[in-house]
Amino acid sequence: MSWITINETKCKKDGICAAVCPPGIINPPDANRFPTETENAKELCIRCGHCMAICPHGAISFEGMKAEDLTKIDGSMLPSTEQAQMFLRSRRSIRTYKDKSVDRETLARLIDIARYAPSGSNAQPVEWMVIYDKNDVNKYAAMVIDWIKYIIREHAEAVAGLHMDLIVKAWDEGSDRVCRNAPHIIIAHGSEQNQMIQDSYTIALTYLELAASALKLGACWAGYFGLAMENWPPLNKALNVPAGNKAFGAMLVGYPKYKYHRIPLRNEPKIIWK
Ligand SMILES: Cc1cc2nc3c(=O)[nH]c(=O)nc-3n(C[C@H](O)[C@H](O)[C@H](O)COP(=O)(O)O)c2cc1C
Repeated sequence: MSWITINETKCKKDGICAAVCPPGIINPPDANRFPTETENAKELCIRCGHCMAICPHGAISFEGMKAEDLTKIDGSMLPSTEQAQMFLRSRRSIRTYKDKSVDRETLARLIDIARYAPSGSNAQPVEWMVIYDKNDVNKYAAMVIDWIKYIIREHAEAVAGLHMDLIVKAWDEGSDRVCRNAPHIIIAHGSEQNQMIQDSYTIALTYLELAASALKLGACWAGYFGLAMENWPPLNKALNVPAGNKAFGAMLVGYPKYKYHRIPLRNEPKIIWK
């Protein structure tokens, strides 16, 4: 059975599907022939769906993805260049949150948007864990503080100049600079064996942060939390990531307490034009 199906009554033999296919598994049509699949098409296909997303006629499908199941792009819903620029530039890392939970449906929607992030070979290797209960967030933040204390004690030279002692001091004074009193943490995890995971988790979390902004939520990379997940076995054990998976990165999420009114300045880009 063939991997690709061409609806011959719809196909106009324009060859766009073949032109955009990343692994080149579609033989372009000619006047006498509809597009066909190459040898090993099923094996080589990365299931990115570009062939059917780009076909103006909805004429192509492959096993497990049908043209009619794809959401149509409504151009009128896309932001203008100016709107997109304002959106991307006005996103901020949010570190002060309302004392209010985000409902699970909204967090699920956030992740549902983030899953559209690009991933190497469309591997989509990122899985998610939501630390929903704020008491758990606090409990894990305390573990990160334990790790920071350990690092300062045992590896002072490695963290010289990073002022990690100030994080501990703030914690002792009742201020959480690890999880910033966020109500929730979303963790990206996945199989370490998947070569695509390293870049893909970073991009997925970046999408998640942008999606949070779009949903009027606030988010901030939990960098110390991420480092502790990697290096502090008690935290790793407590998180209980599924066997075979590793926790790669974490994002704080909640409702922003304050609104930003201006976009801070950033360095001019350093570009080498060749
Ligand atoms: C990989 C990474 C780790 C980060 N870790 C932390 C962190 O642990 N705590 C924190 O408050 N902000 C953290 N941030 C947020 C940065 O400080 C922030 O992006 C930067 O100051 C620029 O501010 P903006 O995101 O509002 O533009 C992190 C950002 C990235 C990309």
